[in-house]
Amino acid sequence: MIIDVPELALVALVGISGSGKSTFAGQHWKPTQVLSSDFFRGLVADDENDQSASADAFEVLHYVAGKRLAAGRLTVVDATNLQSHARAGLIKTAREHDVLPVAIVLDVPESVAWERTQGRPDRTFDRRVLTRMHRDLRRTLGQLAKEGFRKIHVLRGVDEIAAAEIRYEKLF
Ligand code: GTP
Ligand code: MG
Repeated sequence: MIIDVPELALVALVGISGSGKSTFAGQHWKPTQVLSSDFFRGLVADDENDQSASADAFEVLHYVAGKRLAAGRLTVVDATNLQSHARAGLIKTAREHDVLPVAIVLDVPESVAWERTQGRPDRTFDRRVLTRMHRDLRRTLGQLAKEGFRKIHVLRGVDEIAAAEIRYEKLF
């Protein structure tokens, strides 16, 4: 599956924990192109899992995204992006820099994500958290277009995610 992305875009990865966002980002972009919420939580709170640091972490993430977009650099946001207020912040940042907001949704079965989570020492939440995320994802799928995402790519299942290829579109 070819995913068309404008050569300058703010790309929001969207998916439940364990859907493979960070893995996907690592496969398709340079580390410096990817701003991950974990990294910024670590930066402001010395703990990538400190959810109480999220507000500060996203403030800094948006600031860095803005600097990158102002310099004409494609920027990928690796966070679950399952809440409309979180996505609204990204849309706002993209608009401020006259850049297209693009969503790439990694839609894997909850059971697959849960199984993967069992092998991760850095993820200790219980199943209900994942169930809630999965419900939020279903709702998100119906909201992305009206929120302002200009391109929405939904990769359904592990095989589609593995087969995805990014193709860059020239802006002019
Ligand atoms: P959060 O950061 O918790 O939101 O998760 P994430 O969406 O970033 O998932 P991540 O990329 O960290 O992947 C979760 C786990 O699944 C990791 O242990 C990965 O190695 C594994 N994983 C990711 N993608 C694949 C895949 O395509 N196949 C297999 N077998 N494992 C994968
Ligand atoms: Mg991740």
